[in-house]
Amino acid sequence: MNVVNGGSGAGIGNAGEADGSGAWRGWREATAAALYGPDGFYRRPEGPAGHFRTSVHASPLFAGAVARLLRETAGRLGAGAGPVALVDVGAGRGELLTGVLAALPPGFPVRAYAVERADRPAGLDERIVWTDEPPRGVSGLLFANEWLDNVPADVVEMDGDGVVRRVLVRRDGTERPGPPVDGADAAWLERWWPLAGPGARAEIGRPRDEAWAAAVDTLRAGLAVAVDYAHRAGDRPFGGTLTGFRAGREVRPVPDGSCDITAHVALDSALLPGGTLTTQRDELRALGVTGERPPLALASADPAGYVRALAAAGEAAELTARGGLGDFLWLRQPK
Ligand SMILES: C[S@@+](CC[C@H](N)C(=O)[O-])C[C@H]1O[C@@H](n2cnc3c(N)ncnc32)[C@H](O)[C@@H]1O
Repeated sequence: MNVVNGGSGAGIGNAGEADGSGAWRGWREATAAALYGPDGFYRRPEGPAGHFRTSVHASPLFAGAVARLLRETAGRLGAGAGPVALVDVGAGRGELLTGVLAALPPGFPVRAYAVERADRPAGLDERIVWTDEPPRGVSGLLFANEWLDNVPADVVEMDGDGVVRRVLVRRDGTERPGPPVDGADAAWLERWWPLAGPGARAEIGRPRDEAWAAAVDTLRAGLAVAVDYAHRAGDRPFGGTLTGFRAGREVRPVPDGSCDITAHVALDSALLPGGTLTTQRDELRALGVTGERPPLALASADPAGYVRALAAAGEAAELTARGGLGDFLWLRQPK
């Protein structure tokens, strides 16, 4: 826990207490206000791209791979299914959809939906429908890149007596232990993220599981994919992963709207029957993003083409890198 203020015993369990720095709240509630409240971080004009780089920003090859996945999905749905839907959940400023539309063959029958809490950006392609809820009953590809890590989650910590307590936080980031965790949250922890000992921390993934299940439920037929920095059972980090980002830097998480607040996703707990988990490296390679360098002979035959191919190879390498974006997990949920 980064700071414990005022003694660990005082006021434990009184999440509504207020003082000069604001009320004590669980991280889920504090994060929801900090990211999506009226002055929330994700409502700011610069958007996510102003603060960190996702696969979408790293290279158009990512949108190209999603376009290929959409075409495969459309092929499986069959020609009689009509225009295929592409639903981007947590769409940022519509960058992925813009890239996918550019990568598809002209006239490809698609209806694109950006599901986002922020306002529609000016100048966005008119073909993109901007909405704050996924459309119900469509068939196609639902894609969520780095969405679930921004679904607010509570943080817990095991105290010296082996009791798992909700961590309470104030607007300035000061923390203190709260009441013991019980009910559905305790059951989730026991099943998915048992704490290893005193001082261990975890983020409760239940709201992410529920958000994902609700998003998948909107799709009538096709494929839903969630991509995120994630961990699986047996590989959970001892101290949890809650952190902040601002202007390209990792910062202490402070729930005052000044920074992103994020935690890795326990993506295995979000799997529904029939779903699979794979690395981004394997998924992108299967979609043709290989990172192979162009043959040297191309340098003399087509110097400009060689330079382009070399740049693409560098971008593909970033998207599939070990220790980086390539380690992200893809949850595929066919319907
Ligand atoms: C980390 S950004 C990712 C943006 C984009 N997908 C990318 O990969 O560059 C997460 C986005 O999800 C949006 N978001 C979070 N929860 C949401 C929800 N329940 N409905 C719609 N958008 C949401 C945020 O506003 C933010 O723009």
